[in-house]
Amino acid sequence: MSVHTPSDPRKVTTKRFQEMKERGEKITMLTSYDYTLASIVDQAGIDAILVGDSASNVVMGNDTTLPITLDQMIFLGKCVARAAKRALVAVDMPFGTYQGDAHKALDSAVRIMKETHADCVKLEGGAEIIESVRAILAAGIPIIGHLGLTPQSINKFGGYGIRAQEKDEAQKLLEDAHLLEQAGCFAIVLEKIPTRLARQVQDELTIPVIGIGAGNGVAGQVLVLHDMLGLTQGFKPKFLRHFAEIGESITAALHYYSVAVKQGEFPNDEESY
Ligand code: KIV
Repeated sequence: MSVHTPSDPRKVTTKRFQEMKERGEKITMLTSYDYTLASIVDQAGIDAILVGDSASNVVMGNDTTLPITLDQMIFLGKCVARAAKRALVAVDMPFGTYQGDAHKALDSAVRIMKETHADCVKLEGGAEIIESVRAILAAGIPIIGHLGLTPQSINKFGGYGIRAQEKDEAQKLLEDAHLLEQAGCFAIVLEKIPTRLARQVQDELTIPVIGIGAGNGVAGQVLVLHDMLGLTQGFKPKFLRHFAEIGESITAALHYYSVAVKQGEFPNDEESY
């Protein structure tokens, strides 16, 4: 079996996800919400792009992920899927489109797949949504599960703190992870849980676990692109590393532009017709 490196131009598929996990090659995933940045992410060799419902916060400026609609996710999903030549593209199913109604869940997932051309969908939750998960999988639509801090349940949790620190919640998370794997999910995102629990989930499961704030004992990592690039202002949880300070670069560029225009120095002769 050949090694799937970022320079490998082959499309990343659900099958490749499993192969990468099996040979111990870490899986990289980042969010994107538009064509331009998704193209850069794809060309950089990131294995998977998540059209996260974090767009509700990052793109739309909402406090939570709850307000974003299916139509809005589909719009963003289309833009990203058009850009992704190599990366696997996952689209988040937004709040209210899959909970408590398997038929509605299937209709929502089918719309996402038909209209965006993404490769799979991601859903938050375990036992509570398992009928929806089964209905979507039965239609041949691959699913990434999402457990731990599931932001669509923020009103139940009452905050964005670390999840599953107590024995009961940790036990339920383990059971949910097994349930999702048995149902046929090809990967699970674990968000903001203790490293030891995430490692245990990965050790017990066959499918890859992708962590965000879940330590280094899992098969891959996901971050919100705007957060890791230093674009998001005032958000720096412990698990987040800024791999660049693009926000500062943009601010400097805007300042230079403003000065150049105000001083009548831009455009110069070479920049004019
Ligand atoms: O919506 C999102 O960006 C996510 C990631 C944080 C995993 O679900």
